[in-house]
Amino acid sequence: MRSIAWPQATLAAALLAVGAGGAACGDDDAGGSAARDARVEGDGSRRDAGASTRDGALACAACDVPVAPAALQTWLATRQYEGFAHEGAVKNSEGPHGKVRVFVNPLLAESLAAGASSHPLGAAAIKELYAQDGTTLSGWAVEVKVAASSDSGGRGKGWYWYEAFGTSASATPEVSALGAAGCTGCHAEGRDYVTTTWPLR
Ligand code: HEC
Repeated sequence: MRSIAWPQATLAAALLAVGAGGAACGDDDAGGSAARDARVEGDGSRRDAGASTRDGALACAACDVPVAPAALQTWLATRQYEGFAHEGAVKNSEGPHGKVRVFVNPLLAESLAAGASSHPLGAAAIKELYAQDGTTLSGWAVEVKVAASSDSGGRGKGWYWYEAFGTSASATPEVSALGAAGCTGCHAEGRDYVTTTWPLR
């Protein structure tokens, strides 16, 4: 990874992500502006100059997963994603995510099943993050496609990226941003930013 002077929150998130699994992508060419956009404020809300947002809240009528941090954390904490297609068992992440289990919403499931090269607006994946024991849920990583085009306005900016290391409804996320630089580097290697293999195992 290059030594870019990232804002602390982004750097911390990237280090956490990399530190958890020891894997790094090292191609974060997005540089300063993307890193700035990925900044997470103390209240967990997003401050993204380029995004179509108002008061830090992102509107996505087509999304069945909330894309505002507080609403999303509550939604996750109450397991609203449980009906989504998901992996059978907790497994070791091939990336930096530790022990994980992936869920995909119906739009993304359909798109993955069709082998589409681009996923529709509203496509979403939720990744449960587990402690080393593989049974204690410790948080979530989420990506939701909130624009028709994944890269309009910058790499992965059509996706909302979220990561929280806490399971209470009031936990504050480490990452909550469009095109978060700490996430898009690796995920750009996937198919339209989705890296999980289909069918889910
Ligand atoms: C070092 C590479 C890497 C980084 C950085 C990374 N991921 Fe991932 N991510 C992966 C891999 C690999 C998978 C596939 C499943 C697995 O093995 O964990 C994945 C899977 C996921 C999934 C399930 C859907 C999918 O795309 O497969 C979500 C959601 C996710 N990551 C969110 C995030 C978020 C949010 C961030 C930033 C905070 C992030 N990831 C950073 C490598 C990475």
